[in-house]
Amino acid sequence: MKTQVFRINNIGSAKSFLEESAQILKNGGVIAFPTETVYGLGANVFDEKAVSKIFLAKGRPNDNPLIVHISKKEQIYSLAKNVPQKAKKLMDKFWPGPLTIILEKKDVVSNKATAGLSSVAIRMPKNKIAQELIGLSKIPLAAPSANSSGKPSPTKGEHVIDDLMGKVDAIIVSEEENIGLESTVIDLTSKIPVILRPGKITPLQIKNTIGNISTSNENVKGSPKCPGVKYKHYSPKAKVYTFKSEKEIQDFYNKNKSKKIKKLAYSNKNEMAKNLFRDFREADKRGFQLILVKEVSEKGIGSAIMNRLRKASQN
Ligand code: TXA
Ligand code: MG
Repeated sequence: MKTQVFRINNIGSAKSFLEESAQILKNGGVIAFPTETVYGLGANVFDEKAVSKIFLAKGRPNDNPLIVHISKKEQIYSLAKNVPQKAKKLMDKFWPGPLTIILEKKDVVSNKATAGLSSVAIRMPKNKIAQELIGLSKIPLAAPSANSSGKPSPTKGEHVIDDLMGKVDAIIVSEEENIGLESTVIDLTSKIPVILRPGKITPLQIKNTIGNISTSNENVKGSPKCPGVKYKHYSPKAKVYTFKSEKEIQDFYNKNKSKKIKKLAYSNKNEMAKNLFRDFREADKRGFQLILVKEVSEKGIGSAIMNRLRKASQN
């Protein structure tokens, strides 16, 4: 398949690229686009065939549902059966932004996109290009992160090109900065809302908006509530080790000198969030065998960072 690459330098120069992209989406195509978290790979959520192409391009397991992206808050009513007060409060406070809300789905939403679940995950991204693209195509876009399944989410256009060139209709590249980690996912279908995936928006911010929530995504019956969590994620090929202190890193390093080791260090948590997935990918490209990282406190975006690090260091 021929993949067009649209490089956008500023939103003013974007118009013709975005119009062409919107047309491709209306015709059932798949397009990678930037968001304020990571790049997404989008298709028309009401078109089962188009949504199937996302799974194919990523090599994504069919039982892992997608997030639906909208550009206007009202679009939530075309996707969700009902929108409870708590959802409205969260939308008012955090949308557009890196928060995904799970609600009971309407029948029109493709079962392929929700992997057969009766719920749907919805998010209104803040990135202007994403908003324009959804607005111009006039359809909500089912969009997981735009990486090959199993690889770290793409935070740069080049990562998407590495993973999806020849597999999708187009890739929109913009070098605008992003958060670098995926959105916070909150499930509002249970009696007490549950955070299924930590992100930039913290449990405390959510608690302050809607009251009591649970941060545990353990599921009583064994199958995870968030199907994505059962897959190995965010993982570079190199083995990732995390440490409590510099001294532990140094000791480990000294004992493993025969291996090709990359030590990652950051000056603060936001910089770490922004660059972690990029650094995983670069370490792999340069053939490192081990990646060593110092843990951070689980405050603020720290809980999202530690969540991704734990997943990456699982064997
Ligand atoms: O920041 C983000 O959320 C990015 C950008 C592109 O928006 N998207 C993203 O999508 O990270 P993805 O597919 O890589 O992760 C979505 C997660 C998966 O773990 C999936 O299992 C979960 O959300 N999910 C989606 N729909 C769900 C549902 N109805 N019930 C429970 N979990 C759901
Ligand atoms: Mg993903």
